[in-house]
Amino acid sequence: MLLGWLREHQQARGTKEGCNEGDCGACSVVLARKQGEHIDYQPVNACIFPLANLDGTAIFSVEDFGNRQALHPIQQAVVDEHGSQCGFCTPGFIASMVAGQLGKVEHSAEVQIAGNLCRCTGYGGLIRAFEGQRNTPQPAAFRAKLDAAESWIKASDAGGFECHGTTGSIYAPSTLKDLASLRSVHPDALIVAGATDVGLWMTKGLKQPPKLILTTYVHELHAVEQTAEHFCFGAAVPYSQVGPTLLQDYPEARDWFERLGSVQVRASGTLGGNIANGSPIGDGPPLMIALGASLRLRKGETLREVALEDYFIAYGKQDLAEDEFVEAVLVPRRQPGQRLMVEKVSRRIDQDITAVLAAFSETSVGLRLAFGGMAATPKLAKTVMASRQASDIHKDFEPLSDLRASKAYRLRVAENLLRAFLEPDASNPSQEAAQ
Ligand SMILES: Cc1cc2nc3c(=O)[nH]c(=O)nc-3n(C[C@H](O)[C@H](O)[C@H](O)COP(=O)(O)OP(=O)(O)OC[C@H]3O[C@@H](n4cnc5c(N)ncnc54)[C@H](O)[C@@H]3O)c2cc1C
Ligand code: FES
Ligand code: FES
Repeated sequence: MLLGWLREHQQARGTKEGCNEGDCGACSVVLARKQGEHIDYQPVNACIFPLANLDGTAIFSVEDFGNRQALHPIQQAVVDEHGSQCGFCTPGFIASMVAGQLGKVEHSAEVQIAGNLCRCTGYGGLIRAFEGQRNTPQPAAFRAKLDAAESWIKASDAGGFECHGTTGSIYAPSTLKDLASLRSVHPDALIVAGATDVGLWMTKGLKQPPKLILTTYVHELHAVEQTAEHFCFGAAVPYSQVGPTLLQDYPEARDWFERLGSVQVRASGTLGGNIANGSPIGDGPPLMIALGASLRLRKGETLREVALEDYFIAYGKQDLAEDEFVEAVLVPRRQPGQRLMVEKVSRRIDQDITAVLAAFSETSVGLRLAFGGMAATPKLAKTVMASRQASDIHKDFEPLSDLRASKAYRLRVAENLLRAFLEPDASNPSQEAAQ
């Protein structure tokens, strides 16, 4: 992972290791990469960022931003606002905030630093530091590094390599054709996109998959197409790009987007990976099912399209052949008069695992009521869709009780959310329902 390489091989020990699973942000660094004709700046969690995903990018860590004699303006503002005590979390916060400046983000400081955990100081000073400096130009020395990196990133042609070592092989194709033929030759290889799931299998599960196929450099898998009927997201498009496109048509999904992981997780993680891993508590699938999305799957030269609700067969079992892969996710555009509601219910607001995710859509064609966290797979509430009776939720689902929520709580909150959508005039606003 990038963090080990920075600390142990580059002696760049300013970047810290806290959780080693993408949760605390202590390891945040700034990633610069090509996005169309532009350079996109995002913070990423170095602890779960595979080095092999870095070709054609530049990384800036806390060592790059400023120095003891001339702190970066964000660093100086954190000092002035008393935003640091032990300092362990500070380099990660600074990286997230510098990435926010470079990316010219418009969202709040709270959203920008939601993926960074401070264990001793609190967030007030950090929020003020970012808000006060979000539009400050970069200092000359750092700007020079950025300019140099931007030129060679624009000129670079990333991917199209293989690495073979003593413990395994990594294949990093740059075209769809090469990806398809590698998948046919190595159906046993693990596909890796942003590695926000796979990275944890390695750092926490201590798995060492012998063969990896990266989708990171496959140009076609990075395409975002808009037609009158669909948004088509290539399977390797990160959430940070999916979100703003989707929000053009579905602004009701803003809260869903801003609470999916953190800025760091959304910069690496992909909608394709979220769907492909088949988790019953992934936040992407219920919304996509409610919107009537479908998947384009590829096996060699053969393509097929599957409605997303049919893709999830049972816990851990998806309608995906061994040598097949997800090529794209097709999301219908908004219909005139369409209603949409999406609510994530979890124990805390930021970066938490979902207890129940409810996504409801109604168009002239019909009603689609999808849930995550209520069954072994993301699923439509078909009985309620037919009856429009929220209390019929008990006929559709028999959820589990676990650490996040009991069965009774899940059923109750799901029923309340359904009431908020199906009976919008009744005195049961969704905010109340979600409590
Ligand atoms: C701190 C943290 C917070 C998180 N918060 C959330 C959250 O709030 N909500 C949520 O839903 N998830 C969350 N996640 C989980 C994760 O970020 C998402 O599931 C993400 O979308 C996975 O995408 P990825 O590109 O990183 O997938 P990867 O980790 O690269 O891959 C995931 C799985 O998909 C498979 N895969 C990837 N691409 C393809 C393809 N094209 N074809 C076939 N198979 C493929 C891989 O083989 C693997 O099985 C979080 C993760 C972390 C570390
Ligand atoms: S060490 Fe906690 S996110 Fe990387
Ligand atoms: S300053 Fe100590 S953890 Fe944030």
